[in-house]
Amino acid sequence: MSRLVVVSNRVPVQEKKGAASAGGLAVALEAALEKRGGIWMGWSGRINEEGEPGPLSIEQRGNITYALTDLTSKDVDEYYFGFANRMLWPICHYRLDLAEYGRTEMAGYFRVNRFFAHRLAPLIKPDDIIWVHDYHLIPLAAELRRMGIKNKIGFFLHIPWPPADVLFAMPVHEEIMRGLAAYDLVGFQTDHDLENFAGCLRREEMGDMIDEGRFIAGERTFRGGAYPIAIETAAFAEFARRAGSHSMVLKAQQSIEDRSLIIGVDRLDYSKGITQRIDAFEHFVTNNPAHQRKVTYLQITPKSRSEVPEYEAMQRMVAEQAGRVNGALGTVDWVPIRYINRSVSRPVLAGLYRLAKVGLVTPLRDGMNLVAKEYVAAQDPDDPGVLVLSRFAGAARELNGALLVNPYDIVGTSNALARGLNMPLDERRDRWRRMMNHLLEHDVSRWCDDFLGDLAA
Ligand code: ADP
Ligand code: F6P
Repeated sequence: MSRLVVVSNRVPVQEKKGAASAGGLAVALEAALEKRGGIWMGWSGRINEEGEPGPLSIEQRGNITYALTDLTSKDVDEYYFGFANRMLWPICHYRLDLAEYGRTEMAGYFRVNRFFAHRLAPLIKPDDIIWVHDYHLIPLAAELRRMGIKNKIGFFLHIPWPPADVLFAMPVHEEIMRGLAAYDLVGFQTDHDLENFAGCLRREEMGDMIDEGRFIAGERTFRGGAYPIAIETAAFAEFARRAGSHSMVLKAQQSIEDRSLIIGVDRLDYSKGITQRIDAFEHFVTNNPAHQRKVTYLQITPKSRSEVPEYEAMQRMVAEQAGRVNGALGTVDWVPIRYINRSVSRPVLAGLYRLAKVGLVTPLRDGMNLVAKEYVAAQDPDDPGVLVLSRFAGAARELNGALLVNPYDIVGTSNALARGLNMPLDERRDRWRRMMNHLLEHDVSRWCDDFLGDLAA
């Protein structure tokens, strides 16, 4: 078996003890790579202003060899906070209104990709398979090819790929599409993303899908496919089964008393629909007097990308909104919304999901959304909770036992909450079983094997 070299911007190191990495990429890849073994190259998360970068820091943990590079603050500002998170992220999440195009940031993005290529190339052996992840590193294969690297290189996009009319608002979209054409296999989360990509190539007359899963763009042919990312279903279910003895889970259970728990777990990101969700909860409580004082909504939301102005604004907005709703609806012995800005360990997270009667997962747009899958995996088979899921999450294409909602429709989401909390046991079991069977069959190992099998073929 060839050695696997994974490359991503975010690498799950340097997390606070006991806290898990928030972010689907780190969670899923760590699980997949730990089984298969390999090298994981990425940003150390550190800023180093020295002119010449020092050697890669190499760290062995279990089966994974981490090879990490520092970046300068100029790199981080331009490439990560700038082009990746103020241009590519909003565009890929259909938020033209939030996209900020700057030539300096764009140049920084391509420069840091070249830098990554120069740091990676000396590690690569002729038989290695290289697997690049996410929107931060789209031009990496083109840079490696320029340096004469002939290995198989695959790419997986964790976030949505938008339709042509949205993508083309980005001034350098052709360059970005050409970047993808330098890979041997490009993986998307859903067939919708794949179709959007094919549509973008066609509309710009850059290329087309020539047959099922094969693309042509200029001189190059390459493959593309949908590979919905997944979780370690069995292991997560086992965490949840045992979590009852965990002191933090016990405390949470005691503190909610006999109230029904509704849970939301997301990075604090405008794509997650948190403000609309709080509105829906407020509407639900206001319009369902029987549930007043009988429900607690726990929203666990670690801060993310705080240096980006849109995220900073979002943090203020959500905190104010949660405070306002608690002020308006709360009583001396009932706080309707518990709003927490921190990461928790995976066993605790699994236990909290299991306590919740409803998992409320309502992104305005999401590549996949692993939280939805984790919520299902964590449920008690005898008494499972109900997943209320946005139709705009990639996970909605697979989880056919969820109550699907349009997150922009506040009343619709509020009605789904009511339906979820009142759903009879038989229906809950039936819906949960369908989803759980799917997740057991399509877990993260299978996702990894499917992608790498196709890349190697
Ligand atoms: P994204 O990749 O956009 O953050 P996903 O839902 O796909 O969204 O993945 C988020 C991952 O981060 C999940 O595995 C989830 O468990 C984890 N996560 C999110 N918030 C927390 C938190 N507060 N504590 C621990 N893990 C978290
Ligand atoms: O899963 C989508 C994603 O953007 C990953 O690429 C990223 O690692 C994660 O969310 C968390 O974001 P960040 O790396 O910016 O903290």
